[in-house]
Amino acid sequence: MLKFIHLTDTHLVAPGRALYGIDPAWRLRQAVQSINAEQGDAAFVVVTGDLAHWGEAEAYAALREELRALTMPVHLLVGNHDDRGRFLQAFDDAPITADGFVQSSFMAGGIQHVLLDTNHPGVSWGEFCSARAQWLAQELASHTHPVHLFIHHPPCAVGIAAMDRISLRDPGPLREALEPHRGRIRHLFFGHLHRPIAGSWRGIPLSTVRATNHQVALELGNTVRVPGSLEPPQYAVVLADDEKTIVHFHDFGDRSPRFDL
Ligand SMILES: [Fe+2]
Repeated sequence: MLKFIHLTDTHLVAPGRALYGIDPAWRLRQAVQSINAEQGDAAFVVVTGDLAHWGEAEAYAALREELRALTMPVHLLVGNHDDRGRFLQAFDDAPITADGFVQSSFMAGGIQHVLLDTNHPGVSWGEFCSARAQWLAQELASHTHPVHLFIHHPPCAVGIAAMDRISLRDPGPLREALEPHRGRIRHLFFGHLHRPIAGSWRGIPLSTVRATNHQVALELGNTVRVPGSLEPPQYAVVLADDEKTIVHFHDFGDRSPRFDL
């Protein structure tokens, strides 16, 4: 059974600064400590973007330092808050495509794990251009295994109006690259929403989790602004074998009593 961790939207800032009253590095440290202590047998961690809030070099240096404490490998995506160039300066070992996008693929547990890049400088919505889609199509065509996809922006609206305005702007190239392989796309893991959400898109199961620092409140009728909240942080524990993928949402900071039922 493959076990891995889905962590998202760490939004690190330069050391000494806070974000919405919380130190994002401290929150990430708590997540890392929880993962090492409670999920130490996980094969790897994937962080689905918005690694840094303002994309400063100091934030990426702090992120690198915090992630060094993980006892398993970590795979990183960029989100709309990230600066791809500064990210790659800090993580010069991160795999990229020939076009310079932070996209890569690896096998684990008989499943192909494909990490996608939807960052477009200066905008909050996601872009997945024909160059990125072409790389994805070639990657999928080179394997026949089940696929776990990882992407920062969701490919569809989720019903939170202010966030839906900044989802993937044109899902067409992604849809076309996936279409010939739809039957073996096991699950799509995304970030960006800072909420626990699960569902499906064109028959592809998908999910995301709360972020480590700040959250988006469930205000479906709010069409004016992004409703922020300080609901508890979370990561997801994913279990997968040759017939299923299961996602557990874990409020890792929860200290409520435990007892035998
Ligand atoms: Fe975010």
